[in-house]
Amino acid sequence: MAGRFDDRVALVTGAASGIGLATALRLHGEGARVIAADRDEAGLKALADRISGLRTLNYDAADGDASAAMAARATEMFGGLDHVVCNAGIYRRAHFKDISAEDWATMLSVNLTSVFRIVQALVPALRESRGSLVTLASTAAVQGIAYAAHYAAAKAAVVALTKSLAIEYASAGIRFNAVAPGRVKTPIGAGLAPLGDQDDRLLTRPVKLVGRPEGGEPAEIAGVIAFLLSADASFVTGSLVVADGAQNLG
Ligand SMILES: NC(=O)c1ccc[n+]([C@@H]2O[C@H](COP(=O)([O-])OP(=O)(O)OC[C@H]3O[C@@H](n4cnc5c(N)ncnc54)[C@H](O)[C@@H]3O)[C@@H](O)[C@H]2O)c1
Repeated sequence: MAGRFDDRVALVTGAASGIGLATALRLHGEGARVIAADRDEAGLKALADRISGLRTLNYDAADGDASAAMAARATEMFGGLDHVVCNAGIYRRAHFKDISAEDWATMLSVNLTSVFRIVQALVPALRESRGSLVTLASTAAVQGIAYAAHYAAAKAAVVALTKSLAIEYASAGIRFNAVAPGRVKTPIGAGLAPLGDQDDRLLTRPVKLVGRPEGGEPAEIAGVIAFLLSADASFVTGSLVVADGAQNLG
């Protein structure tokens, strides 16, 4: 059976781990030629062992020029680009009063400005291919989140950016959508200790999915991303798709 991404070229950022890794595997499994970008060189090497013909790009999303250069290089690797997943991201935990100007700048540069630089560099290629792009937001963008105000603010801006691009480029045939995962089992928060004086009540959500309080699987988000990138979603653009197992309902 033909794959949805046969003969298509897809760039996935943050592909060395978690949701990005699952997405790279999913797109490859459906026929795409995948370009995996990340700052984690060892992780990219490990992924290359699992995906035949994988191309990799090492870059630092905290550096805007490096992000733009990475994107430009991606368009050259297979002579064009059809799909992009802006997934690389960081999460930090802090009381609002303790977020330094440097913390704020780092959060915005990795989670927001890098997306801006990558998309701006890729619009000509996406116009050529009439391609599609998915950004990774978070339920925090909509609901807010205690002790990560800088993260929530960056993700909310990613949603606004994505919707604005969808309007601006609809007539050019480029689709832009955002996915807002709830809690997903990845290393993103690993090693972050709870704040000593945090109020746990502020972190409580009425989790409806009894039996899965630990969160979703990366592959479950990859499936949503693949749908939005694919022609199955040809009339879907400017959408924010929440994938949270009802964690935030109630
Ligand atoms: N896991 C969750 O619960 C969850 C929930 C909502 C949204 N998200 C979003 O999903 C996306 C993927 O997160 P994940 O959970 O898979 O995390 P992860 O930590 O498993 O993967 C993130 C990837 O981004 C890369 N990365 C981080 N900083 C980078 C930088 N400066 N330059 C280049 N690459 C960099 C990492 O090396 C890693 O491979 C993120 O944007 C995250 O905010 C995750």
